[in-house]
Amino acid sequence: MDESKARQSIYAMADLVTPMSIRVAATLNLVERAGNAGATAEQLAAETGTSAPALRSLLDHLVSVGVFDLGDGRYRPTNLGAQMREDAPLGIKPLLDINCAGGRADLAFVELLETVTTGAPGYVRRYGRDFWTDLDANPELRRSFDTQMNWRYQVQAPQIAERFDWSRFPDILDVGGGEGTLLEAILQAHPTVRGRVLDLSPATTAAAERFTAAGLDDRAGTIPGSFFHPLPTGADAYVLSDILHNWDDDHVREILSGCREAAAPNGTVVVIEAIRDRGTSTAMDLFMLMCFGGRERTVDELTSQAGECGLMLRGSGQVSDERTALEFAPTRHSPV
Ligand SMILES: C[S@@+](CC[C@H](N)C(=O)[O-])C[C@H]1O[C@@H](n2cnc3c(N)ncnc32)[C@H](O)[C@@H]1O
Repeated sequence: MDESKARQSIYAMADLVTPMSIRVAATLNLVERAGNAGATAEQLAAETGTSAPALRSLLDHLVSVGVFDLGDGRYRPTNLGAQMREDAPLGIKPLLDINCAGGRADLAFVELLETVTTGAPGYVRRYGRDFWTDLDANPELRRSFDTQMNWRYQVQAPQIAERFDWSRFPDILDVGGGEGTLLEAILQAHPTVRGRVLDLSPATTAAAERFTAAGLDDRAGTIPGSFFHPLPTGADAYVLSDILHNWDDDHVREILSGCREAAAPNGTVVVIEAIRDRGTSTAMDLFMLMCFGGRERTVDELTSQAGECGLMLRGSGQVSDERTALEFAPTRHSPV
């Protein structure tokens, strides 16, 4: 590549103008508002309460990158732009909309230098509180996060339910089980199994509604609470699905120790994660670090951390296109 092309390429990779323009357009619902008939900048500005000249600049840039077409003074979304619609099958909108949890979290990447310098989450620096506290304080954000979590598991939850033999565990506690997407899939696939979701209260309320709607009230329940407090004992399996990568090593050990304490002596701890070096993206790893101080981990790293908490690896296998299940049994002696 010659020098001028290389310069253009690196700048195209680093450019913030287009990413921010797309995110602002998604936040203002410009694609939905313009529709197939298109709309003028003045109409869109009036509908969104924005400045018409400023919105025209934004739209003109989006025309230049192929997100909108312009004809007869009206802006119309292209096929590319149509991907930003709320109902587009790829569900990208909540990741772009600044008022949704995903889009809001991405904006904290402006604090990446702080994260790289100190290792601390940029999210806290930008918003003044950690991600979960922020969601707790804002029910709309929480709802958008849970919707995103459901969407990301719509294909994988049934795979995880079917590719792992859950019928060995008559009573499951899904620790940090969110709105119950995974537990519902497991209970639907295994009629002899019952289970409960333990999560922060807005998520458990939504999980309870989900279980009722699915006719699972006789086998499914919810426990509002924190996994940093002692967990109910006596379940056959304690499931941690996409939990550990949200946390730094100290918190991971705290969560695993809590599960071990509740599971011992005969229960099992099942960790479901995307595994580093098995197709996880470097971008997701960096996101976990910037947003939570967490990271993607290898099987060896997870096994070693679990070992420090008195958990021994009993088996592992891929359970969905992107997730691996690691099954841990409590060792006979408590860790010192
Ligand atoms: C990435 S989501 C995964 C949700 C679910 N396990 C799944 O795989 O769809 C992480 C979950 O951890 C929950 N969580 C965060 N902090 C928690 C805490 N201290 N106690 C219980 N749940 C917590 C969040 O509310 C969220 O539902």
